[in-house]
Amino acid sequence: MIAITGATGAVGGLVARALAEDLRTDLRLVVRDLSRAPDYDTDVRACTYGDEEASIAALRGVDTLFMVSAAEAEDRREQHRTFIRAAAAAGVGHVVYTSFAGAAADATFVLARDHHDAEAAIRETGMAHTFLRDNFYSDLLPHFADEAGVIRGPAGAGRFAAVARADVADAAVAVLRSPAEHAGATYTLTGPEALTMTEAAARAGAAIGRPLRFEDETVEEAYASRRAAYDAEQWQLDAWVSTYTAIAEGSLAEVTDDVPRLTGHPARSIEDALTR
Ligand SMILES: NC(=O)c1ccc[n+]([C@@H]2O[C@H](COP(=O)([O-])OP(=O)(O)OC[C@H]3O[C@@H](n4cnc5c(N)ncnc54)[C@H](OP(=O)(O)O)[C@@H]3O)[C@@H](O)[C@H]2O)c1
Repeated sequence: MIAITGATGAVGGLVARALAEDLRTDLRLVVRDLSRAPDYDTDVRACTYGDEEASIAALRGVDTLFMVSAAEAEDRREQHRTFIRAAAAAGVGHVVYTSFAGAAADATFVLARDHHDAEAAIRETGMAHTFLRDNFYSDLLPHFADEAGVIRGPAGAGRFAAVARADVADAAVAVLRSPAEHAGATYTLTGPEALTMTEAAARAGAAIGRPLRFEDETVEEAYASRRAAYDAEQWQLDAWVSTYTAIAEGSLAEVTDDVPRLTGHPARSIEDALTR
């Protein structure tokens, strides 16, 4: 039995669709809201990561769990730890977790520290695990732009190797089809090239037919512009700004061949990610 979380979202939705078509797979969708679960005639259970009892009930009988990282929240680490504890208590054997490239306790991108914590929590349980450490999602790039099509942040001329969510899903499906072969593995999922924000904005804009451009900011300007525009808490501001400082320092520039090795096809370019 394979359980898929996040099936009401992008990555989990693609994984659920692919595995639902695969008759060899016993599939369970674990969602927050039953009414929004995709209808593939599979078993569907409801829980949120922060509800340990409901999560244990939803995960009983599951051998392999695809765990999509939770939505950004100040208590995300605790939500993840609760769900991971529940998975172990329910008898899950193997967790496949969507982590982040360079996940580490001292990562510049502060959300990568949450992913490090989730990886550590999974390791501590003794469950078999596979970590899919994703770079930034290339198909989300246009969402970083304001109404005038400007992406602003302190990324400088740093490069990043954004990955298509469809490739993350394809890689996850490959792992979930033969989990034992991937037990203990950590994959870093990237696109086929590392681009500067200037290059990425221009190419994403050309692909979607809406001019986009990048304007560099200082760290101080980045905090000030976001404080002025949003009623956001400090942890959220830190997450947003460190997206760019992590790119500036080069910690997201590594290009790997893990997507082609796992999926058997080349990693999607920004254009492919945005138009196909
Ligand atoms: N690498 C990157 O650039 C990047 C960018 C954005 C996000 N991410 C991370 O990658 C994950 C997957 O991306 P995506 O594009 O598929 O996101 P998405 O479309 O927002 O889907 C997230 C899925 O996770 C579920 N979920 C969120 N928080 C949950 C919780 N606390 N308990 C149970 N289920 C929860 C959502 O359920 P509902 O439908 O009920 O909300 C949804 O099904 C995100 O959740 C986020 O952690 C990475």
